[in-house]
Amino acid sequence: MRTKITVIGAGNVGATCAQRILEAGLADVYLVDVVEGLPQGKALDLVEAAPLQHHDQMIYGTNDYSDTTESDVIVVTAGLARQPGMSRDDLLLKNAAIVGGVVRQAVHYSPNAILIIVTNPLDAMVHVALQVSGFPRERVIGMAGVLDSARFRAFIADDLGVSTADVTAFVLGGHGDTMVPLPRYSTVAGIPLPELMKAERIEELVTRTRNGGAEIVALLKAGSAFYAPASSVLHMVDSILDDRKRVLPCAVLLLGEYGIDGLVMGVPIVLGAGGAERIIEVSLTADEKAALHSSAASVQVLVDTMAAAGK
Ligand code: APR
Repeated sequence: MRTKITVIGAGNVGATCAQRILEAGLADVYLVDVVEGLPQGKALDLVEAAPLQHHDQMIYGTNDYSDTTESDVIVVTAGLARQPGMSRDDLLLKNAAIVGGVVRQAVHYSPNAILIIVTNPLDAMVHVALQVSGFPRERVIGMAGVLDSARFRAFIADDLGVSTADVTAFVLGGHGDTMVPLPRYSTVAGIPLPELMKAERIEELVTRTRNGGAEIVALLKAGSAFYAPASSVLHMVDSILDDRKRVLPCAVLLLGEYGIDGLVMGVPIVLGAGGAERIIEVSLTADEKAALHSSAASVQVLVDTMAAAGK
């Protein structure tokens, strides 16, 4: 049996994820969308690229979830993308309905899959997916921290004039505005960032990272980032399929870790064949703890809004 990945949403993020997964030779991909013809057209285009990209993976476009039966991993990108001036939270109730609907249908055909949620607002959408799927928390994982830390790494590497390969960046908390970067756990070839950069400059790069999604939305004018989000998903899929046990910041349900109970937050996890196999807890200063708890409070507001709307 070939490894099978379903990507739901054949828009910018979904189609680019499919392309990256195929070209990395990781798995066959089933691309699903509500719009008829869209996943079929993009899949056919990608099939025709295969001889030139030197891979033998297959991709199928479909509007029918029964085609996705027994997928190993399901990536959820379906939803509305942010428009200029629109916050992630504006999208909350619309995307909750979309994510709830697609997860319900997908898990019916793939009850053992690992879910990777990409649709924003991310942390809230992981709550929806947990609730609708009934899956254990190990198999419902949000993609946010990998993207936020990649953005931070790119800015640090550019600023210091060093290779991105030597920069690691550690982020906690919710996606975007309330993200909690931890510079003292971020390094350049093992050297803590505060040794190499002034506090004010670090703060500027942190602010740029927090606004990383909005910066791209403002430039594109229509739609939002998709190359780096798709690369982030590829990283996670690769760690799961090859059971690499990469330590990656991902959004998972916390049950007491970091003093947070019953809320989805970005934390470092060990990502392997079993999904989020372990949560790694690090010690935090009083300021860092306060920032994490304020990030948790903003996710709680979204969860309460969804509950009040009956989602
Ligand atoms: N079922 C399946 N697909 C759906 C549904 C649904 N109920 N509703 C919408 N879609 C599809 C749309 O038809 C579209 O093709 O989801 C796709 C979304 O694609 P884009 O509009 O191009 O958005 P994209 O940039 O890919 O972002 C998708 O990922 O990063 C997040 O914030 C981003 O929440 C957004 C999501």
